[in-house]
Amino acid sequence: MGKMLTPAQIADFERDGYLFPLRAFSAAEARGYRDALEAYEAETGDAIHSNMRHKVHLLFRWADEIVHHPRILDTVADILGPDLLCWTTNFFIKEAEDPAFVSWHQDSTYWGLEPSDVVTAWVAFTDAPVESGAMKFLPGSHRLDQIAHRDTYAAENLLTRGQEIEMEVDEAQAVDVPLKAGEFSLHHIRLVHGSEPNTTPDRRIGLAIRYIPTYVRQVKIDDSATLVRGRDRHDNFEHEPRPAADLDPAALAAHTAAIQRMLGTVYSGTEVTEARR
Ligand code: NI
Repeated sequence: MGKMLTPAQIADFERDGYLFPLRAFSAAEARGYRDALEAYEAETGDAIHSNMRHKVHLLFRWADEIVHHPRILDTVADILGPDLLCWTTNFFIKEAEDPAFVSWHQDSTYWGLEPSDVVTAWVAFTDAPVESGAMKFLPGSHRLDQIAHRDTYAAENLLTRGQEIEMEVDEAQAVDVPLKAGEFSLHHIRLVHGSEPNTTPDRRIGLAIRYIPTYVRQVKIDDSATLVRGRDRHDNFEHEPRPAADLDPAALAAHTAAIQRMLGTVYSGTEVTEARR
């Protein structure tokens, strides 16, 4: 019996490769996080994008608070065990009536993490109904091996390389993953998933948090991560500092260093020098 998950839920995750909906915090708290993000966007005059939409927990106190949220960590610990690192965070934002989409893919494709004990907690800052371009999961596909992907760099594709899986996906088998503000879903690093454009009149905002147990290794580079729970007896990752204040010089420096490492993993073998979109 886990702290948050029942044995049946843990068995579901093992069989299907995902679990939802789970509640992290109230809709009002989710609104508070959305307001914090949008205050930053109002200051810069633009939606958060490019390098700044990744590893945001190194930049903002409120994002650091979310990756350390006890309810999220207790849930992830039920699957990955008590010693946890946050490897990265990525905003997936679809503006109102936005053609942006996510092609079918496995997260494991460019990440360089081994073994595949990696779980994403996708946290909804807004309601994310099916029409807003909610995620779609292919149940049980996490038990497939790594499948080849082709890079498209398609303009409206939210993925780092616009990568898509070289496999025919039977849409009839896919499961829609609608969430309410403050809820989250969990998915396994090999689960095949994607999403459609947002056809609603509001933004759809989600923060994907990638958690790994401390025994996972990065095989591409010397990488860094944030210890969020328990002890690290493996030292496979340099530990990142938590932000003392939003966007303070130390936080910005730590973020810049971490993003350089990210470019060395997800964009390795390419000419890309800045995160797309
Ligand atoms: Ni993904």
